[in-house]
Amino acid sequence: MPKETLPNMDYLETYRSRVDTELDRRIGSASTSARLQAAMRYSVLGGGKRIRPALSLAAASALGQSIEAALVPACAIELIHAYSLIHDDLPAMDNDELRRGRPTAHIAFDEATAILAGDALQAMAFEWLAEAPGIEGAARLAMIQELAHASGHGGMVGGQAIDLESVGKRLTLAQLETMHRHKTGALIEASVRIGAMTMPGVTARSLEALTDYARALGLAFQVQDDLLDIEGDTETIGKPQGSDIARAKPTYPALLGLSGAREHLSTLLESALESLQSFGPAADPLRAMADYVVARTH
Ligand code: IPE
Ligand code: IPE
Ligand code: MG
Ligand code: MG
Ligand code: MG
Repeated sequence: MPKETLPNMDYLETYRSRVDTELDRRIGSASTSARLQAAMRYSVLGGGKRIRPALSLAAASALGQSIEAALVPACAIELIHAYSLIHDDLPAMDNDELRRGRPTAHIAFDEATAILAGDALQAMAFEWLAEAPGIEGAARLAMIQELAHASGHGGMVGGQAIDLESVGKRLTLAQLETMHRHKTGALIEASVRIGAMTMPGVTARSLEALTDYARALGLAFQVQDDLLDIEGDTETIGKPQGSDIARAKPTYPALLGLSGAREHLSTLLESALESLQSFGPAADPLRAMADYVVARTH
């Protein structure tokens, strides 16, 4: 990939390596069931891009907060994401056998272990938020509420339900957007907001601008995911290419065509970047993340 299409990868690389180390250390190796623990480690430490925790760190940074202060909340969000992927791949859902270039959790282990690993990671996310160092009481509660809402029926799980109910149907653009905002956008929005909430005294105005950025980016993220399902190849995307078409999923390209979806993607990118104007250079990591999300190849 030419360098100019993936600008400022340094931020993501730096954040990713810090997040990977922390995830590995915190998730530990002791558990009541060695098999359950192995499935949890397999699913979390299996080479994800770490976009959500990176967004938390970048949002903290935009407000002048240190990335260390946002690290544990950021990792908690990645646990929710890892759990959502395990369940998303299950035979009862997307029935996919490849994730991050390796067998999905239910193939590498078994279905019951995969379900339990997802359950355990979800609970662990809230445990980590509850014990994250250096966060004042009210902010901690607000973060827990934010993540619970973004993960549950009003967020990711709700979106997954709409996704499954919509198989084989042609949605309107508004319905498709609602689905995407829930299944993918909600957690991305929470990632940015929780990162911002680690800054004591963050103003409502800053939080609002960052939320606008995250809402546009969250949608852009899933539009690119839908495009990659068509235009990517299995080896590069690390998951089965064509899975959406095979399962008759409603997607942006299905509704708008490839060029329509691409156009929509660049409008969303512009809108995300516009929301960052008031932050100046401090928001460069967030800008780099936005560029990365739309240019990513996997
Ligand atoms: C994939 O998310 C699932 C969606 C929400 C579309 P990512 O593309 O962030 O997956 P990893 O974590 O990098 O594997
Ligand atoms: C999944 O969307 C969103 C989640 C909440 C995990 P997809 O089903 O499109 O994600 P991939 O393409 O399998 O990663
Ligand atoms: Mg799915
Ligand atoms: Mg899927
Ligand atoms: Mg997809």
